[in-house]
Amino acid sequence: MTRLGIFVDRKTLSNSEQLNALIRCRDVAEGMGHDVDFIFPVDINKIPGMDALFIRARTDPMNVTYVAARMASMHGIPVIDDPRSIQICSDKVNMYSHLIKNRISVPVTVFLSKNDLTIENVTNLFNELGSPLIIKEPSTSFSLRVEKVHDITGFFRVARRFIKLSDWIVVQQYIESKYDWRVGVLDGKLLYACKYTIPSDTFKIQASVNGHIVYCGVESVSPDKVPPHVIRLGIAAADAIGSGLYGVDIKNNNGDAYVIEVNDNPSIESGEDDCYPRIFEQIVTHLFTK
Ligand SMILES: Nc1ncnc2c1ncn2[C@@H]1O[C@H](COP(=O)(O)OP(=O)(O)O)[C@@H](O)[C@H]1O
Ligand SMILES: [Mg+2]
Repeated sequence: MTRLGIFVDRKTLSNSEQLNALIRCRDVAEGMGHDVDFIFPVDINKIPGMDALFIRARTDPMNVTYVAARMASMHGIPVIDDPRSIQICSDKVNMYSHLIKNRISVPVTVFLSKNDLTIENVTNLFNELGSPLIIKEPSTSFSLRVEKVHDITGFFRVARRFIKLSDWIVVQQYIESKYDWRVGVLDGKLLYACKYTIPSDTFKIQASVNGHIVYCGVESVSPDKVPPHVIRLGIAAADAIGSGLYGVDIKNNNGDAYVIEVNDNPSIESGEDDCYPRIFEQIVTHLFTK
């Protein structure tokens, strides 16, 4: 019998959709004839006894998921997400550097250190990239430390806050769109595609508005309804990071597509897979044929 470990962490499980998706994934793998163990952080020493590991907890090189990924890879056990992908995707400077090096279309992107934060530099950025600008703290996730700024005062207010948390901040040209495409890629091939519709009271797919969290709408889209250049860009962006499982966020603005982010550990729990009922089967098959 082959054993699949699904690594989970109660601390980063935040809703019943995630729980249901985990159970669906387990049922699919069992239906394919595998033994499945949910592995919690306290059981991390069970990893060497697995034949494959699927991490379904919030990944971060500073938390236990990274240790789990490293442990699996050191024992030659196929793992999603692999430690290298976790490391690259959790740091936007690293992630965009891979994309830019591979000539992937991204919004105009600049990295600034504390010493670069001068009125002259910021004035030039507004002149060259236009207004508004987007500022990101490199370790952000779930849109937490991504802000839109319209003028120099606003820029410094956000930049000073973010530069306390990191050696660099990321400044980007603002790309207007009503929704983000999410292109799911596994091993260089399209796995799924959906639209994340941005709530009307923010520019991000999720945000805190007047003390309430607002979330994007999710609409699974069959491959024939996704612009082919968006699929091609998603696959190319994923390939620039590695050969695992990624969710690539793309803005398609008047036919020009830009990669906003490559996520490892993309969520597959809110209806992303409505048009793609075989996602978990494909992931499990991939893990056992690597
Ligand atoms: N350059 C940009 N132009 C317009 N909107 C952006 C830009 N970058 C990010 N956003 C919006 O902000 C959201 C969060 O940004 P992202 O880079 O994905 O950070 P995080 O890792 O925190 O999710 C995105 O889903 C997107 O809707
Ligand atoms: Mg994001």
